[in-house]
Amino acid sequence: MDRFAPPTRRSLLASPLVVLALAAVLTVVVVACGSGGGGPAVKLSAAGKRGQTVAGNKGCVACHTSTGGRSTGPTWKGLAGSTVKLEGGTTTADDAYLRRSVSDPRKDVVAGYANIMQPYKLTPRELDDLIAYLHDLSPKPKPGS
Ligand code: HEC
Repeated sequence: MDRFAPPTRRSLLASPLVVLALAAVLTVVVVACGSGGGGPAVKLSAAGKRGQTVAGNKGCVACHTSTGGRSTGPTWKGLAGSTVKLEGGTTTADDAYLRRSVSDPRKDVVAGYANIMQPYKLTPRELDDLIAYLHDLSPKPKPGS
């Protein structure tokens, strides 16, 4: 009868591999979250995805970021529902304000920005999708937190 040689505990030998794998995963996560222009870090609804496409097709993204960075215009990240400082007052960025900001942007001018945005004539559907997109970029804190 062969003497059964108990295997050395391989789990310890495998641990450097585990560390490497974890490092790889972490790198991917950090890269995904840290990139400004990469894929969306937020989860978009179906309407939000359509809104993102509208924003791309209409050229809004030339002046607005979805990631928090200042551009020619203010970022869209966290905008929906926030308090916005305007030239001559403050307002809450509710849907009425957001819609007005797109179709009649010269009415409310965000403090610190030039009054240069053109009014956009979007279809009601495009506008709805855009607003949904803005909401997706401003996730509400969980109730009770
Ligand atoms: C040429 C640059 C430019 C383009 C293109 C542009 N915007 Fe703007 N937008 C601005 C600037 C500058 C402001 C801030 C001044 C103001 O309120 O008018 C602004 C303000 C806004 C605001 C209000 C932001 C806030 O913080 O309250 C919204 C919403 C908005 N834009 C949406 C859009 C959408 C949607 C499009 C495309 C259909 C678009 N913008 C295209 C420059 C631009």
